[in-house]
Amino acid sequence: MMERVNRIIRHPLWKGALQQIEALEKDRDFCRHDLDHFLHVARIAYIENLEQSLDLSKETIYAAALLHDIGRGLQYEKGLPHEDASTVLAQGILTDCGFCEGEKKVIVDAIAAHRNADVARGYDLAGILYRADKASRNCFVCKAETECNWSREKKNTHIKD
Ligand SMILES: [Fe+2]
Ligand SMILES: [Fe+2]
Repeated sequence: MMERVNRIIRHPLWKGALQQIEALEKDRDFCRHDLDHFLHVARIAYIENLEQSLDLSKETIYAAALLHDIGRGLQYEKGLPHEDASTVLAQGILTDCGFCEGEKKVIVDAIAAHRNADVARGYDLAGILYRADKASRNCFVCKAETECNWSREKKNTHIKD
């Protein structure tokens, strides 16, 4: 069932991008964009999918989570917004991993919108990706919390329902 998701984590472009991000973030005080973050996002989104009976496919949720920040290295190096860089990388990776055009569109649209508050309340892939991405951050134990540019409303000051 997770065959195509496992193709993503073996894909050379995905692995290379993750390594590039790791190297560029090694001295970063704020939240990192690593595999732990990607999997936290996937699992939180999947939990909401179950709790709300949204019936979105597990592979689609995991694919979006594993790819949503993959362009972060290009943001650091070339100044591109990382949601745009991630969609470009995701297109090729999803094609190589066997996702069909319809699935690719839903995943890529959700990645493109993951920093856009307009989708924050939706009960679709974009909505659960947006919320899971924010919920994954443990601001309540973060040493850089006071310097972080997230708004007060966005920060997780406690464990939410
Ligand atoms: Fe992001
Ligand atoms: Fe993220």
